[in-house]
Amino acid sequence: MKKFVALVGTNTVKSTNRKLLQYMKKRYADDAEIEVVELKGLPIFKKTKEVFIPQQARDIAEKIDAADGVIIGTPEYDHSIPALLSSALAWLSYGIHPLMDKPVMIVGTSYGTLGASRAQAQLRQILDSPELKATVLPSSEFLLGHSLQAFDENGDLKSATESQKLDGLFDDFLEFIDLTEQLDNSKKLHEQQAASFTWDNGTTGDDE
Ligand SMILES: Cc1cc2nc3c(=O)[nH]c(=O)nc-3n(C[C@H](O)[C@H](O)[C@H](O)COP(=O)(O)O)c2cc1C
Repeated sequence: MKKFVALVGTNTVKSTNRKLLQYMKKRYADDAEIEVVELKGLPIFKKTKEVFIPQQARDIAEKIDAADGVIIGTPEYDHSIPALLSSALAWLSYGIHPLMDKPVMIVGTSYGTLGASRAQAQLRQILDSPELKATVLPSSEFLLGHSLQAFDENGDLKSATESQKLDGLFDDFLEFIDLTEQLDNSKKLHEQQAASFTWDNGTTGDDE
């Protein structure tokens, strides 16, 4: 059975994006083991001369290393991903590279009609940066609008249309993971580049 890490892109306690990831964990339990992982508690990213990485970020990186893929649930604030998620991705690209060539599925939900579409587009762009270089499920987004009304009291999606859409995307993601295993021509190069790549050799950060 495939193992996934589902990153909750927010520190909000009553988050509909966390609800969505918990729903996926429950709905796909026969096909996949999904661990919902909190980013809550991570500090805002900053560079240091010592290239200090918080233990929580190292722990998350270890979980990602051990997983077949990652699902990221992102809210949208001011047409962007939340600051917490942005910081988390910076930590996960600072001397460690757990997302490199890792299959990633993006989902998101928002209170309005557009379902975090702009945050999801931004997240896709960030994940394509040289320090992250994740392999994101192409041309598929799960955009769930009106998230406050979208779930019933059991935490299930009320709309059969939306749940079927998500089922299709998740099935595609499972197949995508098998396909990406065949795309290994540039993986070694990416690993070499990541091992030697640095923006500043630790010369420009603050002291811890
Ligand atoms: C400061 C602020 C900015 C927001 N900006 C947006 C936005 O640009 N687009 C949107 O759909 N919802 C926006 N929202 C509403 C919700 O926070 C957003 O829909 C979010 O995706 C809900 O996710 P959550 O339930 O996981 O917190 C904003 C809320 C706040 C407090």
